Amino acid sequence: MSNLTGKHISYWIDSTPTANFPVLSHNLSVDVAIVGAGIAGITAAILLKRAGKTVAVIESQQISTGVSGHTTAKITSLHQLIYADLIKNHGEEKARIYAQSNQAALEFVVKTITEEQIDCDFSRQSAYTFAETEENLQDIEKEVEAALKLGLPASFVRETSLPFPIAGAIKFDNQAQFHSRKYLLHLIQQIPGDGSYVFENTRVQKVEEDNSCQVITDQGIVQAQNIIIATNIPIADEGLFFAKTYPKRSYIVGAKISADKAPQGMYIGSGEKYYSIRTTPYEGELLLLVGGGGHKVGAVEDTEEKYLDLENYTRSRFDVESFKYRWSTQDFVSFDKLPYIGKLTPLSQRTYVATGFSLWGMTKGTLSGMILADTILGIKNPAADLYDATRATPFVNPQGIKQNIEVGTHWIGDRLKGWGKNLNDVGIGEGKLVTVDGDKVAAYRDETGNIHAVSAVCPHLGCVVAWNSGEKSWDCPCHGSRFSCTGEILHGPTVKDLKKF
Ligand SMILES: Cc1cc2nc3c(=O)[nH]c(=O)nc-3n(C[C@H](O)[C@H](O)[C@H](O)COP(=O)(O)OP(=O)(O)OC[C@H]3O[C@@H](n4cnc5c(N)ncnc54)[C@H](O)[C@@H]3O)c2cc1C
Ligand code: FES
Repeated sequence: MSNLTGKHISYWIDSTPTANFPVLSHNLSVDVAIVGAGIAGITAAILLKRAGKTVAVIESQQISTGVSGHTTAKITSLHQLIYADLIKNHGEEKARIYAQSNQAALEFVVKTITEEQIDCDFSRQSAYTFAETEENLQDIEKEVEAALKLGLPASFVRETSLPFPIAGAIKFDNQAQFHSRKYLLHLIQQIPGDGSYVFENTRVQKVEEDNSCQVITDQGIVQAQNIIIATNIPIADEGLFFAKTYPKRSYIVGAKISADKAPQGMYIGSGEKYYSIRTTPYEGELLLLVGGGGHKVGAVEDTEEKYLDLENYTRSRFDVESFKYRWSTQDFVSFDKLPYIGKLTPLSQRTYVATGFSLWGMTKGTLSGMILADTILGIKNPAADLYDATRATPFVNPQGIKQNIEVGTHWIGDRLKGWGKNLNDVGIGEGKLVTVDGDKVAAYRDETGNIHAVSAVCPHLGCVVAWNSGEKSWDCPCHGSRFSCTGEILHGPTVKDLKKF
């Protein structure tokens, strides 16, 4: 096993209490049922409740322990490099709506924190995307030009407080950072009461829309006038969002650093291999968070390497004391760079989704809550058309075609590849794909030597899962479903565990 140090848990989760909302125990009826308690679901819930609607937030695990509990939690409209591309591919008007709506989401979070005096380690910060070499500088310069054209608070800088030289950076003023889970735990406390509810540990299996809507869970049924599916990637297969996005997994380490040695601001690099950098208050000093190592879910088995690379990078660039945390998570990347926010399908009247935040969901998840609440309340949101979830998006752009060919290749190829024949070949702490009496088995041997054998076939659409050594999980390379080493769901789109043998 590796030399990795520090706790293997998200700092945001480790530093906050669990919420302890009840499990759904009887059928009930509300105006709006919201599936998933991450930033998208909770923002929608709070806005709808404030507007007088009754809501039920239904969460399969605990509040904000999904992607929103594992994020880097920068709140910014500087999404690495996007505006030059948006102008080129969607035109200036749409790019401006993207810019303005993400700025509006940022200001919504700031206003909420200020008005409600939420204690969530919030601070205004500048956001930077930097190029370390002259080679990537052109992209930065183009981005500055595009961002200024759209009225964003952008400038070009050659100096930052990073302790290493850069060729240049785009800087956005007046952006922000926070402790995402402290913020969301504060908001969710306002939901229960006056006909509204929050349920944890209640997995939604299916949603149905007829004259009214039904959310069918493993514990009971919630009837509603409208449903919002805010499960990061919709659990409903209609709409094919799993084929219009791809799941990207990425890694974060947290190292203690003294304030006088820490950089000011929030940073992300550019080019092929890049790192994301910010700090947060920690034990009277700071925790330096460094993220990176992104790859498609299920494409890398030795994910411990990703943490080692982050530790090496952090040590080589910063004067850190010790590593305190490491964790990883994933988000769904939209092929046309715009999130999907709106109706599940063109035929849906009352079922809405929000997905495809492309690793920038602190603003886009907030924005989703704002747009979906407006839509349900009959208010025209100026950004709703741009993000229309039923827009014609191409599986036909090159990225989409490649992803969907890869899915087909996995579906067929994984059935043919070399499978182990003997469970004895599975070492302690290892996971391996093995054929046993004709069954395709995903086998994990725990530290006490016991084998945990589950079906290797993903219950979503039948691809074969792959071992992830760093997280000790089974990850599906097709659409990003993940399962624990003993087969329980960690991440959708699946709603079923791996079958146990
Ligand atoms: C490594 C990394 C770093 C990031 N850093 C940033 C950043 O600095 N700034 C930024 O803007 N964005 C960042 N992002 C992106 C951002 O964190 C996400 O886009 C955002 O948190 C997604 O929110 P969500 O509400 O869609 O999903 P989640 O927070 O995952 O919420 C969905 C919830 O639905 C629940 N659920 C799933 N299935 C069911 C079911 N069947 N029944 C009931 N509940 C269910 C899940 O348990 C989960 O709690 C980052 C992403 C990654 C991967
Ligand atoms: S996530 Fe779709 S087949 Fe596994």
